Amino acid sequence: MVSRVIPVDTFDLVIFGGTGDLARRKILPGLYRRFCAGQVPTDARVVGAARSEHDTAEYRQMVREAIEEFGGPGTSECDQLDAFLARLEYVTIDAVGEQGWKELADLMAGTDRIEAYYFSVAPALFGDIAERLQKWGMADECARIVVEKPFGRDLETARALNKTLATYFNEDQIYRIDHYLGKETVQNLMAVRFGNMLFEPLWNSQYVDHIQITVAETVGVGGRGEYYDKAGAMRDMVQNHLMQLLCLIAMEPPARFSPDAVRDEKLKVIRALDPVEPHHIVRGQYQAEPCNEAQNPGYRTAVDNPRSRTESFIALRAEISNWRWAGTPFYLRTGKRMAERSSEITVVFKDTPHSIFGEEAGRHRNVLSIRLQPNEGITLGVTIKEPGPGGMRLIDVPLDMTFAETLKADEVEHVDAYERLIMDVIRGNQTLFMRGDEVEAAWAWTDPIIEGWEARNDVPKPYDFGSTGPIAAHEMLRREGREWRQVSQ
Ligand code: BG6
Repeated sequence: MVSRVIPVDTFDLVIFGGTGDLARRKILPGLYRRFCAGQVPTDARVVGAARSEHDTAEYRQMVREAIEEFGGPGTSECDQLDAFLARLEYVTIDAVGEQGWKELADLMAGTDRIEAYYFSVAPALFGDIAERLQKWGMADECARIVVEKPFGRDLETARALNKTLATYFNEDQIYRIDHYLGKETVQNLMAVRFGNMLFEPLWNSQYVDHIQITVAETVGVGGRGEYYDKAGAMRDMVQNHLMQLLCLIAMEPPARFSPDAVRDEKLKVIRALDPVEPHHIVRGQYQAEPCNEAQNPGYRTAVDNPRSRTESFIALRAEISNWRWAGTPFYLRTGKRMAERSSEITVVFKDTPHSIFGEEAGRHRNVLSIRLQPNEGITLGVTIKEPGPGGMRLIDVPLDMTFAETLKADEVEHVDAYERLIMDVIRGNQTLFMRGDEVEAAWAWTDPIIEGWEARNDVPKPYDFGSTGPIAAHEMLRREGREWRQVSQ
């Protein structure tokens, strides 16, 4: 099945940090894939802007190599690389000085195309870049800016960033990226919830026992140790990605699928979150791979901080105090160097009130699992009779909708979250981007949790390389008569 591609209006996209890791791995290969798909018009322009001295020819060569390395499936069959590279320009720019700004302003002048500015740089530079965009006449009311996480490191810094950006841009010009919102299944979560009659009546504390959100990674902190050790899993993953998933799973049906209707509902969820008790938090740090420490060191070695107290794993129990969810626990868990790369949201329904088949037949709970990666798809566990003459015995079978198989959807595999979100920026659709008040509310919930463990001098618990996290995380659920879903593909 090939999905319908509607070309976007033509645009100029400036990428500040155009030679950086994100631009090379995600943004530029993503744009090329959309170019191959016919969604990016052939006269669109992409301007890389960065501190390093290059000319446009060198930049095009750098992007060619990046696309060859990170282009992903489908790009090697697309023979439009030269045509795409011809749409690229490069400007050497000093974000905090004057170099390059006139050249950029000249490039952007006199066109009536959509203008987007992607801030793929450290947040400390957001204000300087925004100020210069205004000074050089590029921050007009049609311009859009895209800003990357981390959006602050606490409520105070997020507020300050919002305030700075608001000096130069209106809220409807600011696209705060959380790439989890661009994942296919995350949007499908909304389609499943609000496009079917089946689930919504059961979607509340009366029928749902609990909900789990797991984002398990096999990678370690890699070359990002310096950043990560100041952030930790709570700031790096929970405050943004996991909370966004929580919002989509828990929110009330918005009146329509429009940016503010959706974001208003998400905001209400965040504001209804209770503070988290210390015994409902488990933090961990991964250990080295046994017998392979040089290749896969433990967390503290990887971040070059032998006394680090930063968590590479966190599990916590959240509760939402509203009519729909009061009393239903939401268990969130994320970690690096775990057994499998597996991101999944699981809705575990309650037991049937009474078993007419007797206890010996067995009882099973319905479990709806929404897999974000890998093997995107949705599975619903349904109880049926075990086939055969063995009497009335119940077994659990999955109604499985693995997207790649069910939809034969090439596009499902190929459309990366970034390319989808960049196209939304050009279309001017903010539904899948975070609003300023949402980000602040998320920090307002996260800050006291972090302050709490800092005040307690909490030391993360070690967990084995390639495991499912610290034992304490399993105990936290067992105390409540529950189990984490297995981390597996
Ligand atoms: C990023 C985090 O936002 O998301 C990384 O900073 C993490 O630490 C990554 O590895 C995970 O994204 P994905 O799409 O690979 O699940």
